[in-house]
Amino acid sequence: MKADEEWVHPNTITGDAATDERYLRRDRINEYFWREVIKGNHILFVAPRRVGKTSIMKDLAGNCPDGFVCIYENIEGVTSRNEFYRRLFELILQCVHRSKIKQAKEFIESCFKKYSITEISKSGIKLGVQDINYEKEIRDLIPELTKATVHAVIFLDEFSDVIHKLKKSGLHQDAIDILHTLREIRSDDDFRHFTVVYAGSIGLEFVIKQIDRPKLINDL
Ligand SMILES: Nc1ncnc2c1ncn2[C@@H]1O[C@H](COP(=O)(O)OP(=O)(O)O)[C@@H](O)[C@H]1O
Ligand SMILES: [Mg+2]
Repeated sequence: MKADEEWVHPNTITGDAATDERYLRRDRINEYFWREVIKGNHILFVAPRRVGKTSIMKDLAGNCPDGFVCIYENIEGVTSRNEFYRRLFELILQCVHRSKIKQAKEFIESCFKKYSITEISKSGIKLGVQDINYEKEIRDLIPELTKATVHAVIFLDEFSDVIHKLKKSGLHQDAIDILHTLREIRSDDDFRHFTVVYAGSIGLEFVIKQIDRPKLINDL
C-alpha cells in the first residue's frame, strides 16, 4: 500500500473478544510473548480486525507470571496528546495498585500523598491536584517504579488507530510527540521495568510512513 492511499477497513462483523472458556489459548504465543518482555522488548500486535488481538491481550494481561503486574485498556476514545498522557499516567497507577506486594503498596501510598489521590478504582483515578503536566509526571513516575519492585506491563489496545486518527484530524504533531516520548521511554535504562504493549488494526508502519518518521517504531 502506498503512503498517500487512505486506509479502508475490511467489512467485518463486530463482537466481543473471546475470554474465559470461549478463549482458546496458544501457549506457544504466550511463552514467546513473556520471553520477549523479560528480554526488555516492547511488543506491537498488528493484524486486521477480528483476528484475535484483543482476546490475546486480555488473556496475557489476566494471566501474567510472578513479578509482573498488568493492565489492559482500549484507548480508542483518545483524541489528543494530553488525553493520551493522562490515560497512560492513570493506567500506570491503576496497574501498580493491583499488586499485592508490600513495596508496591507503599509506592502507591506515596503517590496518594504526592498527587492528593482520593480514589483509585477500575473506572479511573480521582486526583486532588489540578493542572498536571502528565507527560512530565509520566517521565518522573516510571523510573520511580523500581521502588514498587514490580514490572508493570500496560496493554494499549487500538493504539495505532488512535495515532492514525490524530494524524487524520490535523493533530500531526500530537501523533509525532506521543511516538517520540514512547520511543524515548523505551530506550532509557531507567524505564526497563516498564513495558508497553501496543495493538491496532491499522498497521503502525503504515501510519508512520505517512508521517515520515520510521525511526519512531523500528525497535518494536
Ligand atoms: N484465541 C481465541 N479463542 C477463541 N476465539 C477467538 C480467539 N481469538 C479470536 N477469537 C474469535 O475472534 C473474534 C474476534 O477476536 P478479537 O480478539 O475481538 O479480535 P481483534 O481484537 O483482532 O479485532 C472473537 O469474538 C472470537 O469469536
Ligand atoms: Mg480488538
